[in-house]
Amino acid sequence: MNDADTAISLRARNARHHIHPFSDMDALNAEGVRIITHAEGVWLRDIEGRQFLDGFSGLWNVAVGYGRREIAEAVNAQMLQLPFYNKFFKSTTIPIIELAEMLSELAPGFSRTFFTNSGSEANDTIIRMVRHYWQLRGRPAKTHFIARRNGYHGSTVGGASLGGMAWMHAQGGLPIPGVTHVAQPWWWGDGGDMSPDEFGLWAAREVGHAIDRLGAETVAAFIGEPVQGAGGVIVPPDTYWPEVERICRARDVLIVSDEVICGFGRLGHWFGSQRFGFRPDLMTIAKGITSGYLPMGGVMVSDAMADVLGAGGDFFHGYTTSGHPACAAAAIANIGILQREGLVERVGHVIGPYLAERWLGLAQHPLVGEARMVGLIGGLELTPDKSLRARFPKAGEIGTVCRDVAYRAGLILRATGDCMLVAPPFVLSEAEADMLVERTRHALDGALEEAVRRGWM
Ligand SMILES: Cc1ncc(COP(=O)(O)O)c(C=O)c1O
Repeated sequence: MNDADTAISLRARNARHHIHPFSDMDALNAEGVRIITHAEGVWLRDIEGRQFLDGFSGLWNVAVGYGRREIAEAVNAQMLQLPFYNKFFKSTTIPIIELAEMLSELAPGFSRTFFTNSGSEANDTIIRMVRHYWQLRGRPAKTHFIARRNGYHGSTVGGASLGGMAWMHAQGGLPIPGVTHVAQPWWWGDGGDMSPDEFGLWAAREVGHAIDRLGAETVAAFIGEPVQGAGGVIVPPDTYWPEVERICRARDVLIVSDEVICGFGRLGHWFGSQRFGFRPDLMTIAKGITSGYLPMGGVMVSDAMADVLGAGGDFFHGYTTSGHPACAAAAIANIGILQREGLVERVGHVIGPYLAERWLGLAQHPLVGEARMVGLIGGLELTPDKSLRARFPKAGEIGTVCRDVAYRAGLILRATGDCMLVAPPFVLSEAEADMLVERTRHALDGALEEAVRRGWM
């Protein structure tokens, strides 16, 4: 069997047996999946031998890049020494002790962490933990969550309910009761005639109005991503988070910072809340904690909350593989790399600003309405008329065309609607950043040509 036969047969077997997440399976199988076989640094290789610059760090998570032997070796050693033991029966393991301590050093004021296997599980944990906390505080009526429309908090019942993706809610009767969604701080799309700063205050005050409508005595917490990732890299105006914090504090409503994308350096700080200058009570973590080498998530709990929970008796919650020792070993090795190589500082002061300067230059392209970037996460709003901040009639068409042209040019970008998203690994070199921008420009040119040809503009 030659390589082409192998690829064909693998695709057929995949089509027969594998259900992909977030995918139209018939369409995907008709087109044929990509089979990625190797990766090194910021580069992916598929089964046909094509190379791609991974502008998306896997799924926002491969912060330290591919091919890190020390992570693989740490996991291998842990697997041989102790592949598993549970945390339920008055037991723990050494890697999880070391990791929990390491995390507390990265986030002063959060000295305790509850571990999960994913960001979704962590957000489900938060729903239960926050309600339990208010019961312990003698205020059991405080159960309601405020979240944002178009926010993303995962795919489990709880995570998808906190998330504000209407198309996810439409499949299967979500959200669960007790979640209210308010405006997202998306100035480009929703800001109208307001300045970004005015709009940031307006959107924050929507949180306050929702709490007041429900009655603060029934509202447990507000949850938000420092920068909305899956919703389209929505960077809030600087006025937004401080006002949300002021509003929540005044009403005794907890603040949850969902750091699944922003945590572990993506914004040039260890946590996104540090970049935007607010202090959450809880932080959801996942993705960058292991750079995706193994699955792991968690909830970091403020000391004040952890004291109440700690004194509150049993919390009847946990997952068999909560705090898995091999995943903890991967996380320790990954965080060690981030620290030793100064990669968070590199995002904040070296490669982040270098890429941002060039990425923001793409705003000059006729198809781009707004270019934004914080740290190493960026977006480009595609528009048929930038002077009007106009949108294409059918959201998602031009974004898909642009993404596909990029792919053919050897660059992985993602499209959310008509916003092109980028979030490369922190080890991206200057030359690779130049290449990323050049290939994006090429994709924009191709998409523009197609938009004109199809009469979309
Ligand atoms: C902000 C945010 N929260 C939660 C999640 C869910 O994490 P997971 O896919 O690990 O369940 C994601 C995933 O993309 C995310 O971006």
